Amino acid sequence: MVESKKAETDKMSIEDIPGVGEATAEKLRDSGYDDVMAIAVAAPKDLSEITGIGEGAIIKIIAAARKLADVGNYETGEEILNRRKNVLKLTTGSKNLDNLLGGGLETQTITEFFGEFGSGKTQIMHQIAVNATTSESDGGFNSDVLIIDTENTFRPERIVQMSRAKNLDSDEVLKRIHVARAFNSHHQILLAEKASQMAKDFNIRLLIVDSLTSHFRSEYMGRGSLSERQQLLNRHMHDLLRFGMLQNAVIAVTNQVAARPDVFFGDPTAPIGGNIVGHTATFRIYLRKGKAGKRIARLIDSPYLPEGETVIQLSEEGILDGI
Ligand code: GTP
Ligand code: MG
Repeated sequence: MVESKKAETDKMSIEDIPGVGEATAEKLRDSGYDDVMAIAVAAPKDLSEITGIGEGAIIKIIAAARKLADVGNYETGEEILNRRKNVLKLTTGSKNLDNLLGGGLETQTITEFFGEFGSGKTQIMHQIAVNATTSESDGGFNSDVLIIDTENTFRPERIVQMSRAKNLDSDEVLKRIHVARAFNSHHQILLAEKASQMAKDFNIRLLIVDSLTSHFRSEYMGRGSLSERQQLLNRHMHDLLRFGMLQNAVIAVTNQVAARPDVFFGDPTAPIGGNIVGHTATFRIYLRKGKAGKRIARLIDSPYLPEGETVIQLSEEGILDGI
């Protein structure tokens, strides 16, 4: 049902929204809102600020877009359970980490890996990209993969090594991994929005953003720009989640940690983006360095799985069990 609704709204143009004339449509488009569904689910205050259209007019436009896109209806528990029945799970390569996640990375959900530099976030992203291309009996989706690379750390050579370790044809695997380099946060947001166009040509069940927060962090420094940064991040996270729901895809994002000046005991670090990222990501995995390529992975704040830790091993062959 979600798929058919998507197809319907894709055919509509924003001029189909009652009350949206040429000038208003132009303002919406210039702000990146060229899609009825995106307007229907936008927050009035944000949309008013971003487009410069008065809040009163925006509230009416959003209400009309909601009616047109037929959103805002309640779903019964049964409908939600049925949607959940379509959830697929992707192996990380480590049985321990899969078990910690209740069987692997879930589709229709954002999973965040956070940790300091060198904690293995990018290695895990390479591994799950390879795994997604494998058959379902091998824990994959037999699908293509999108990677939004913000730090220029995608290495095809690692894909080749990891593919060979699994006896896969590395050329075939590389052909199925589509990488876009994001040059700044706006570009990153745009690439996430364009992901649905890629999904028309390819069967994509894994979308990776490595790293989710680096551009936002460097571009929006200081307290004055914090609320703008959080708003943009929030919108970006919701675009990603929407892609995951519509395509039944895994969304995997990485995040660094920042020092917390207010914490003097225990672990004085926290993921960047704070609550915005935390509330939208359903699974959060905290990675800490151990000895000789071992990494401790801790599941944090899961809605229905117990917190816990396990050990993984970074190796030339990829991500393996550490114990
Ligand atoms: P930042 O992006 O800087 O925040 O770090 P990250 O968490 O993405 O770290 P990344 O995944 O790049 O981890 C780098 C670590 O992976 C290195 O320090 C190595 O320990 C390990 N690693 C990477 N490639 C190999 C490899 O070919 N063999 C082995 N044994 N380890 C590797
Ligand atoms: Mg990295």
